[in-house]
Amino acid sequence: MKTAITELFGIRHPIIQGGMHYVGFAELASAVSNAGGLGIITGLTQKTPELLAQEIARCRDMTDRPFAVNLTFLPTLSAPPYPEYIAAIVEGGVKIVETAGRSPEPYMPPLKAAGIKIIHKCTSVRHSVKAERIGCDAVSVDGFECGGHPGEDDIPNMILLPRAADELKIPFVASGGMVDARSLVAALAMGAAGMNMGTRFIATREAPVHENVKKAIVAASELDTRLIMRALRNTERVLKNAVDRLLQIERDKGAALQISDIHDQVAGVYPKIMIDGDLDAGAWSCGMVVGLIHDIPTVAELIERIMADAERLIRNRLLELLGSDERHAIRVA
Ligand SMILES: Cc1cc2nc3c(=O)[nH]c(=O)nc-3n(C[C@H](O)[C@H](O)[C@H](O)COP(=O)(O)O)c2cc1C
Repeated sequence: MKTAITELFGIRHPIIQGGMHYVGFAELASAVSNAGGLGIITGLTQKTPELLAQEIARCRDMTDRPFAVNLTFLPTLSAPPYPEYIAAIVEGGVKIVETAGRSPEPYMPPLKAAGIKIIHKCTSVRHSVKAERIGCDAVSVDGFECGGHPGEDDIPNMILLPRAADELKIPFVASGGMVDARSLVAALAMGAAGMNMGTRFIATREAPVHENVKKAIVAASELDTRLIMRALRNTERVLKNAVDRLLQIERDKGAALQISDIHDQVAGVYPKIMIDGDLDAGAWSCGMVVGLIHDIPTVAELIERIMADAERLIRNRLLELLGSDERHAIRVA
C-alpha cells in the first residue's frame, strides 16, 4: 500500500509506532521498522543526550530501515536540554523526528538544517494547521480516544480526521484508537495517509516492558480508562486500575487541585510500572483501544495481519458493497 506517508518516510506500510515513555526503546522501534512500519525511540526516556545517542546507535545496530526519535515538549518544571537532544539526533543520522506537546517552532531551524523530516503530533485542527504553517512535513492527528495526552477539546477521530483532511495540505496519520485493519481502512477513508498506534504496540512480544503491563492491557475493556489532571489542563488518559486514590484526591480538591497534590502518583512512576511491573506505582497512559486488544503477537505478526486484513477488507467487504458492474470496472481498471 502506497500513501503519502510511506513515500515521505520511505517505509513499506503506513503504520507508525508513536513515542512512548519507557516503552519506546531500541527493541520496539527496530522491530517496527524491520516489519516495514516506522519505529520511534522516545527521546526523553533517555535521561541525558549522551544516553539518547547510545540508544540511537543501538537501534541502528538492530535495523537498517528508517526509524525516528520522539521529542515531547510537555510542561515540566525544569526543561530538559532540548538543543543537546537535537544535536544527538542530528549526529546520530536520524532523519525523522516526531514532536509532541508544545509547538516545535523554536526547534525547527536546527532540525530542518539537518534535513530531518518532522511529524508533529497534536490533538486539534488549529494546531495541525499551525504545524503545517511552520514547516512540519506531516501531522499525527491524535483524537480524544488516545492513550496519553488528548488535549482539552475532547474531539474524537470520527470528527477530527475529516476536519483535518478539509484543512491540511500536508499528509497526516490518524492517531488514537487505532488498532487493526478496520482502523486503518477507516482512517484512510477519512483522509489520513496512515495510522499511528501507541497502546496496541505495548502488547507485543518485542515491547521491552514487564509482562504485567501487557497482561493488564489484554485484560482491560474499553471502559477501563480514566482522564486525570483535567483541572491542571494537562489531561492524560490512563488505565483506571492504579488511579482510584488519585481520582479521589481530584474529586476532593476540585478546581483547586495542584500538581503537588498528586505529584507522587504521576512523576517518576514509569520505570516502576514498565520495568518492575508494579502496576499500582502510579498513573500510566493507556488508550480506550485496550478494549480491542486480545493478544500479544510479535510486531511482524501484528503488522502483517493488519495489512493482509486491510487488503481483504477493501477488496471484499468494500468492493462488494458496490454493484457488480462497478466492481468489474474497478477490478479491470
Ligand atoms: C504508555 C504510553 C506512553 C506514552 N508516552 C508518550 C510520550 O512520551 N510522548 C508522546 O508524544 N506520546 C506518548 N504517548 C502517546 C502515543 O505516542 C500515541 O500518540 C497514543 O498512544 C495513541 O493512542 P492509542 O494509545 O489509542 O494508540 C504515550 C502513550 C502510551 C500508551
